[in-house]
This record gives sequence, structure tokens and C-alpha cells, in this order.
Amino acid sequence: MEAQRNALSIFLLAVILFLIQCVVAQKARLSSPIERRALLDLRASLGLRGKDWPIKSDPCSSWLGIECRNGSVSKISVSGLKRTRLGRLSPKFNVDSLVNLTRLVSFNASGFPLPGSIPDWFGNRLANLEVLDLRSCNISGSIPGTLGNLSRLTSLYLHDNNLAGLIPATLGLLRNLKFLDLSVNSLTGSIPSSFGSFGNMERLELASNYLSESIPPSLGSLRGLQVFNVSDNNLSGSIPIQFGNLSRLVKLDLSRNSFYGSLPEELKMLRSLKMMIMADNELEGRMPVDLFSSLVELQVVDLSRNKLDGALNATIWSMPKLQSLDVSSNNFTGPFPGLRSNISATTAAMFNLSNNFFYGTLNFSLGMFRFIDLSGNYFEGKVVVNNAKRYAIIDRNCLQALKQRTLEDCRLFYTDRGLSFDNFGAPDTTQPPPAESSSESRKRLIFILAGVVGGLGFIVLLVLILVLVLRHNKGIGNQRRNADVGPVPEGDSPQLPKDPTIAGAGDPFTYEQLLLATDNFSETNLIKQGHSGDLFRGILEAGIPVVIKRVSLSSFKKESYMMELDLFRKLSHPRFVLLLGHCLEHETEKLLVYKHMPNGDLANSFYRATNSDDDSLQSLDWITRLKVATGAAEGLFHLHHECNPSLVHRYFRTCFLLLFSSILIVIVNNQCF
Ligand SMILES: *[C@@H]1O[C@H](CO)[C@@H](O)[C@H](O)[C@H]1NC(C)=O
Ligand SMILES: *[C@@H]1O[C@H](CO)[C@@H](O)[C@H](O)[C@H]1NC(C)=O
Ligand SMILES: *[C@@H]1O[C@H](CO)[C@@H](O)[C@H](O)[C@H]1NC(C)=O
Ligand SMILES: *[C@@H]1O[C@H](CO)[C@@H](O)[C@H](O)[C@H]1NC(C)=O
Ligand SMILES: *[C@@H]1O[C@H](CO)[C@@H](O)[C@H](O)[C@H]1NC(C)=O
Ligand SMILES: *[C@@H]1O[C@H](CO)[C@@H](O)[C@H](O)[C@H]1NC(C)=O
Ligand SMILES: *[C@@H]1O[C@H](CO)[C@@H](O)[C@H](O)[C@H]1NC(C)=O
Ligand SMILES: *[C@@H]1O[C@H](CO)[C@@H](O)[C@H](O)[C@H]1NC(C)=O
Ligand SMILES: *[C@@H]1O[C@H](CO)[C@@H](O)[C@H](O)[C@H]1NC(C)=O
Ligand SMILES: *[C@@H]1O[C@H](CO)[C@@H](O)[C@H](O)[C@H]1NC(C)=O
Ligand SMILES: *[C@@H]1O[C@H](CO)[C@@H](O)[C@H](O)[C@H]1NC(C)=O
Ligand SMILES: *[C@@H]1O[C@H](CO)[C@@H](O)[C@H](O)[C@H]1NC(C)=O
Repeated sequence: MEAQRNALSIFLLAVILFLIQCVVAQKARLSSPIERRALLDLRASLGLRGKDWPIKSDPCSSWLGIECRNGSVSKISVSGLKRTRLGRLSPKFNVDSLVNLTRLVSFNASGFPLPGSIPDWFGNRLANLEVLDLRSCNISGSIPGTLGNLSRLTSLYLHDNNLAGLIPATLGLLRNLKFLDLSVNSLTGSIPSSFGSFGNMERLELASNYLSESIPPSLGSLRGLQVFNVSDNNLSGSIPIQFGNLSRLVKLDLSRNSFYGSLPEELKMLRSLKMMIMADNELEGRMPVDLFSSLVELQVVDLSRNKLDGALNATIWSMPKLQSLDVSSNNFTGPFPGLRSNISATTAAMFNLSNNFFYGTLNFSLGMFRFIDLSGNYFEGKVVVNNAKRYAIIDRNCLQALKQRTLEDCRLFYTDRGLSFDNFGAPDTTQPPPAESSSESRKRLIFILAGVVGGLGFIVLLVLILVLVLRHNKGIGNQRRNADVGPVPEGDSPQLPKDPTIAGAGDPFTYEQLLLATDNFSETNLIKQGHSGDLFRGILEAGIPVVIKRVSLSSFKKESYMMELDLFRKLSHPRFVLLLGHCLEHETEKLLVYKHMPNGDLANSFYRATNSDDDSLQSLDWITRLKVATGAAEGLFHLHHECNPSLVHRYFRTCFLLLFSSILIVIVNNQCF
């Protein structure tokens, strides 16, 4: 009994399974012999391999890339298939048999070589076609106008072929089209204004062709448009204000054309915009004031290489989703838009503000930015970088740093704009004070005259002292100390020389030691760019503060550092800064290590007197000035008379002028005397 029941149920199960299988097979099997014939013809004309499309089995169930619906072929994809060796010999765009596949909805040959042109009959015979993907198929010829008859078409991809000629206006009849990609071809002519009637368009890509003339304003009615890319064409005209109606637009790429005119105010209505790429055009004028504050979704902005001008609004620092902002190579100007404190999101973005006319001081630390390129502007003042891992490019500005513009350039730029230049932080010796009202300037004149008279008096005094000191020292020979001048600062006692050729020139250091000491010659440690090399502050491993002079052989004469070394070998005088060592092992950079003088240089001490706000140094009183003058005279005397052979100091005149003029400035600015 039990066994019989079991056998019966197994039998019933088998019958049911068989029936299900029949139904499934019926559904999947290609029913029309005409379509079967057509597929076999296609297999032959494209030279497809038996491995992919096996002749004996059913196409719907076992041919690669074939999909059927109701026993008819609905989708064909030959994308990724390979031709037979014979087929590869003369590949052709031979797909005539598609005519008999009347239910075909999708044809995808992306990446499959079909040299030849798109047949005219496509438009008239494949009435059910919704998707036509012929990307990278090596198609040539022009786009047939009949394609406008494929009224069900939603996607037309012809990207990356050799299509030439005009874009047929009849494409505008394709009311269901959502994706149109004609980019990377050789199409000419203009964008048909009929494109404005695509009711459902989402992505319109026409990049990298030779399209000319302007963008038809009718495109402003493509309400669903999300991507518009016409980059790298020959388009001109201005950006249509109707674009303001493209409220769904996410990517806008107009780069590498010849668009001119200004950015329309209406752009700020593009509330979904994430990418705004307009580089390499001839756009000019100011940006709409609140453009960036309205476009809160923006992630990538590229306006580089245009002719935009005006100042940047501080709102560029408060775009919540910004990843990259490139406004390089424009005519933007003005001081840097004020940086708010609450910008952590923005400073993670990349900023390229290079090659504009920005000026003024950088009143923030560049270390705040992950990446910022400020090169080729006119920023002035000190550079603060307090996080070495972040990246900032500051070349070709007027900053107190390396690789900057010339003094002349900077001064010209600032005076052209009626501004005063900080003169790389040094006292300004040639510029007249900025123009003022007449009574003010008369008052100024008096002070200047007073200054000149006083200055002259001072010179006479100085010369007198010099003569006196010379006389005195001749009398008593090589006596080093002079009670009037005060004690000379003690240096570390010079170490024993190790290299006979540079004996007396201090210790040899390794390049790594000095890299370590100066934090890889970081900008923050740069004291000044000297005439014969740059001076860096540094701290040796032992904690001894030093000053390191970096002589780059590419920009200075090879002999100059050797001369300097030689000089220090011969010289030893308490009035000269002590040479502690050197490093000559690097090919192109020679380094000299000096004792660190905590009070800075002479010019600074004089100049300091004018800004009383931040200084740790006090204004020098006249007694100190006198002592300084006597000390300087002592040093000069040693150079000229005591060492053998005697030396003439090249900078003497400069020093003297500097001394004189800085005193003048002190007098004029303090309005004393
Ligand atoms: C399949 O064919 C039947 C009758 O031939 C038809 O009623 C049905 O709508 C078709 N289905 C599809 C998805 O075309
Ligand atoms: C389409 O099918 C018909 C009938 O089988 C045939 O006569 C015709 O040649 C086919 N057309 C093409 C282009 O293969
Ligand atoms: C065509 O086929 C390729 C490769 O399989 C695929 O990446 C692409 O998305 C297909 N095209 C369409 C419109 O589905
Ligand atoms: C593209 O087609 C041309 C002929 O139209 C042929 O010379 C060329 O080799 C083809 N290129 C590729 C990559 O198939
Ligand atoms: C659309 O097809 C009809 C008939 O098939 C034809 O007369 C007409 O020229 C075609 N239209 C286009 C734009 O090709
Ligand atoms: C626009 O199209 C070009 C060519 O296909 C492409 O290189 C570029 O990345 C596209 N722009 C955007 C924003 O996707
Ligand atoms: C670009 O367009 C201008 C006119 O708008 C035309 O004179 C010029 O020949 C075009 N250049 C190219 C490369 O097509
Ligand atoms: C946007 O669309 C509205 C309604 O269709 C129309 O009145 C307005 O002129 C359009 N604006 C632009 C800038 O095209
Ligand atoms: C910057 O934009 C804000 C708001 O968008 C505006 O109120 C302000 O006037 C602008 N500032 C400048 C200097 O244009
Ligand atoms: C910034 O833009 C300039 C000019 O457009 C370009 O040369 C430079 O490479 C860009 N900087 C970076 C770091 O990409
Ligand atoms: C932009 O700057 C360049 C270079 O200084 C200048 O020749 C040009 O006239 C300026 N253009 C505009 C529109 O201001
Ligand atoms: C700082 O930014 C955050 C997020 O962007 C915001 O929620 C917060 O209110 C801001 N704070 C100030 C003081 O602006």
C-alpha cells in the first residue's frame, strides 16, 4: 500500500515537472522560422563564431546576447563577441537581415567593429527599436535622417566613431529619447534647434566634435535634462539665459569652445548642479554675485582659462559640498576673500586660483587647505604654513618666500592700483610715501626736511667716529676689545678643522643633518633671500640654534661660496658672525652654517623702531645707535687694514645708504625730531 502510494506520487511529480518544462521551453523557443533564418544570416554576415552562436541549438535559450519575448527576438547584443578569423579579414556593417526581426527592441554592438555607415532603412524598418548602441564601432558616414522615424527610441549612442556631416534635425522628432550621445565624432554644423522638443531628454552629449554657432535657446525647455556636455567643439555665442530653467541639471560641461559674454544670472537657478565646467572659453565680466551661495550642490567648478574678472565673493569658502574649484588663468583680482573660521568642509577641496591678479596679504595659514595653488598672482607679505602635510603652491607672487616676482614687477602692480607694496618686508627706500592732501603733505615736507638735516648731521657724526676709530686703532695695533663699545658676544669656540683645504671654516656637516635642522628648508624657516644665497633658521641636533646659508650653484657662481669659505678661514674677528661649519657634499647646493644672532640683522633693528605693535625688540636709542656705528666701523677697519691681504667691502655703500634711509624713515614716521 505504502509503496504504491509513493510510486504514484513520484509519477505525478514527474508529469508536473515535464509539463512545466514544456511551457518554459515553448516560451523561450524561437517560434518564427523567418526570424531564425534572419539570425543565421546575421551570424554569417557578421562572421560570428559557432562557439557563441551554436547553429544546432535554439537562439533564444543558448545564443550569447540574444533575448526573446513571446517567441520573437527582442534584444541582440554582439558587444564583446569576437568575429571568426575569416570574418575579421573584411569586417563590414552588414546587418540587412535585421529587417526581418520585426519585434527587435534593442541592438547593442558597442565595441564591435562595424566599419561602414548606418543604413538608411534603419529608421524606416526597425519601428520597435528602443535602444541603439553603436559606441566605438568604427562607423563612418553621416547620421541618417530617417532615424527620426524611430519614434520609440529612448537611447541612441553613437559615441566614439568617425561620423561626419550635420546632425539631422529630424532627430528632434524622437519624443521619447532620454539619452543621446553623439560625442567624439567629426560632426559639423550647428546643434539643431529642434532638439528643444525632446520631451524626456536626460543626457545630451555632443562633446568632441566640430559643432559651431551658438546653443539654441530652445534647449532651455528640456526640463528633465541632467547632463549637458558640449565640451571641445567650436561653439560660440553666449550661454543662453533659458538655461536657468534646467532645474534638474547635474553636469554642465561647456569647456573648450569659444563661448563669450558673461555668466548669466539665471545660472543660479540650477539648484541641482554638481559640476560646472566652463574652462577654455572667452567668458568675461563679473560672476553673478550670489552664484555660488545659491548652488549648494556644487562639487566641481572649473572656470579656468577665460577672461572673467572682478573679485571673488567670500561665499566660495562656504560651498558645503565643494571638491574642486579652478578659476585659474582669468582676470580675477582684488584681495583674497575673507576666510571664515567655519570652513573645514571647504578647505578639504582643491583650489586653483593661479594666474590671476589677486593681491594683498594672506591673512590665514595656507596649512588650512588640503591643496591650494596661488601661483602667478600678486599676494604680498609673510606666508604661514603650519601643517607641512598639506600642499600649497605660492610661486610667482610678491610674498616673502622663494621663487617670487621681481621687486619691479610687484611695485609696478601695486602702484598702478594706488596701493603700497610691502617691499618684501624690507624698509622701502625708494618709494615716496603715498599721496596725501596738500596740508598733510606740507607738514610731511617739514618732517622730511628735518629728517634730511638730521640725517646729514648723523652722517657727519658717523664719519667723524670712523676717522677717530681708525686713528685710534692704528695707534694701538691689533687690540680687539674696546671698552666704549661694550662686550662682544661670545661664540662657541671654533672646532678643530678636519679637512685641510677648508681648514678654519668650521665643522663639516652632512646634508641630512642640515635638512633635519631646517625641516627640509621649509618656508617657515626662511629668514630672507640673500644676494648670494638664502638664509634659513635651523636647530642642530644638540639644540643649538644656527643660521644656514644655502648657496644654489644653479643660480650663483660656483666660486662664490668658496670665496666666502676662504674669507672666513682667513678672518677671525669678534665683530663678525661666527662660521660654525659647512656642508659641501651636495652637488648643486652648498651650505654654510653660522652662529645664530637672536637679535636679527642691523637693518631690521632700525626698521623695527617704526612698528611698535608686535616687536620684541625695542626701538634703538641713540646711545645704542652710536655703539652700533662704532662696532661696524671696527669691523670695517679690520677688513681694510688688519687682515692680510686687506679686503674692500663690496656692500659698504649699500649698508651705509640703508642705515641712513632707515633712520630717515624712523624720523619721518614718528614725526619726531
Ligand atoms: C505575447 O503574445 C500574446 C498573444 O500572441 C499577446 O497577447 C501578449 O500581449 C504578448 N506579450 C508580449 C509581452 O508581447
Ligand atoms: C526577410 O524574409 C523574407 C521571407 O523569408 C525574405 O524573402 C527576405 O529576403 C528577408 N530579407 C532579408 C534582408 O534577409
Ligand atoms: C551594450 O553592451 C555593453 C557591454 O555589455 C554595455 O556596457 C552597455 O551598457 C550596453 N548598452 C546599453 C544601452 O545597454
Ligand atoms: C576602421 O575602419 C577603417 C575603414 O573604414 C579601417 O581602415 C580601420 O582599420 C578600422 N579601424 C578599426 C580599429 O577597426
Ligand atoms: C519616415 O518613414 C516614412 C515612411 O516610412 C517616410 O516617408 C519618411 O520619409 C520617414 N521620415 C523620415 C524623417 O525619415
Ligand atoms: C564631456 O565629454 C567629454 C568627451 O566624452 C568627456 O571627456 C568629459 O569628461 C565629459 N564631461 C563631463 C563633465 O563628464
Ligand atoms: C569654427 O567656427 C567658425 C565660425 O563660427 C568658423 O569660421 C571656423 O572655421 C570654425 N572652425 C572649425 C575648426 O570648424
Ligand atoms: C522658464 O520657463 C517658464 C515657463 O515655461 C517661462 O515662462 C520662462 O520664460 C522660462 N525662463 C527662461 C529663462 O527660459
Ligand atoms: C557676496 O555674496 C553675498 C550673498 O550672496 C552678498 O550679499 C554680498 O554682497 C557679496 N559680496 C560682494 C563683495 O560682492
Ligand atoms: C592650476 O591652473 C593652471 C592654469 O590653468 C595650471 O597650469 C596648473 O597646473 C594648475 N595647478 C594644479 C596644481 O593643477
Ligand atoms: C585680462 O588681462 C589681460 C592681461 O593683463 C589683458 O590683456 C586683458 O585686456 C584683460 N581682459 C579683460 C577683459 O579685462
Ligand atoms: C558651521 O558649519 C556647520 C555645518 O556646515 C553648521 O551647522 C554650523 O551652524 C556652522 N557654524 C557657524 C558658527 O557658522
